Amino acid sequence: MKTIKASLLFFVFFAALFNSGCKENKKENQSEQETVNTESEKNHIEKNAFGEMPDGQQVDKYTLTNDNGMEIDVITYGGIITRWTAPDKDGNYEDVVLGFNDLDSYFGDVPYFGALIGRYGNRIANGQFSLDGETYTLAKNNGPNHLHGGITGFDKKVWKAEPESTGDGAVLVLTCTSADGEEGYPGKLDVKVTYTLTGDNELDIQYEAVTDKPTVVNLTQHTYFNLSGDFSNDILDHEVTLNASAYLPVDAGLIPTGELRPVEGTPFDFTKPKAVGKEIEADNQQIQRGGGYDHCWVLNETEDDFGFAASAYHPETGRVLEVYTDEPGIQFYTGNFLNGALASKTGGTYGKRSGLCLETQHYPDSPNQEAFPTTRLNPGETYSSHTSFKFSTK
Ligand code: BGC
Repeated sequence: MKTIKASLLFFVFFAALFNSGCKENKKENQSEQETVNTESEKNHIEKNAFGEMPDGQQVDKYTLTNDNGMEIDVITYGGIITRWTAPDKDGNYEDVVLGFNDLDSYFGDVPYFGALIGRYGNRIANGQFSLDGETYTLAKNNGPNHLHGGITGFDKKVWKAEPESTGDGAVLVLTCTSADGEEGYPGKLDVKVTYTLTGDNELDIQYEAVTDKPTVVNLTQHTYFNLSGDFSNDILDHEVTLNASAYLPVDAGLIPTGELRPVEGTPFDFTKPKAVGKEIEADNQQIQRGGGYDHCWVLNETEDDFGFAASAYHPETGRVLEVYTDEPGIQFYTGNFLNGALASKTGGTYGKRSGLCLETQHYPDSPNQEAFPTTRLNPGETYSSHTSFKFSTK
């Protein structure tokens, strides 16, 4: 499970990295097209301008490509994955993630399409928690609660990006700093997220962070997948497996009640592959509260710390997505709040349940629930979280 490693050396490295100008991601990057070759001609990263922030700051798009032809577009705004192509059983690559083709579309009321989430994935009850006897009040952006890091979470920051040339694949390192007190959190937090597209059609994501005061951290990735490659379809025919014998029931505000409830005999049982739509309308209080699935599953312990968490299979195209992680939980969200208000990349709109999210993370509201694995990070420690999304076909 998530390890917090005390590593002074790493901290020094971090400090050096951030002193080298993390926030100065300004005009000097002005839109030259740049290509960084990694292993071969085909395995590379290309940089292009994507748009401008209202204050004129440039946002870049990095396209990570592997030898097979998989392409992932990542923009420096929110570290958002705007496009991700995956092969079907006949080898046709199609875009399988919800998003937009232009920056301005991401500025509206967008439900975190493709974004990096921080400082805290999911909800903190009443936007409040205590640490060492001190109460911290966070931004409330979801009724009375705090959601996904607040009003200006990491999904709305312009990150500094560095493509790297390594043998592992196409690597993009994103860094940002969150000031002490930002959105109400204690401590200045320096964050590093490494996206590596491997030759195995796998996106490996490593999250790291260091703080200068005790704080809480829970980072995740909020990509909505639709493996059909056609965003006018919903995801009810996707067959999902979750490596979890229990899940966290929620109250009416979607805050975990604290109970770890067995999935057996309930619509929450995805221990064997099951079509998302099979029981999504079941007469079940928890389904009704989420408007479908919008819960955190408690991942079973695996032999390795980094183990199988989930998969999704689209029978018609044969696309398979597997998720591996060292996190204790996964938020399975079936896009219940999508309502056709946002225009899709390929024409039409993103309708209800047109995408599903598999967000690896610690449990929601952990800072207020002592029995949950801790999300505390102390100075001198390094927050570390590791997840990979791997595509194949069958
Ligand atoms: C949450 C949902 C929320 C969605 C978009 C998910 O992670 O669990 O409740 O609506 O993100 O904000």
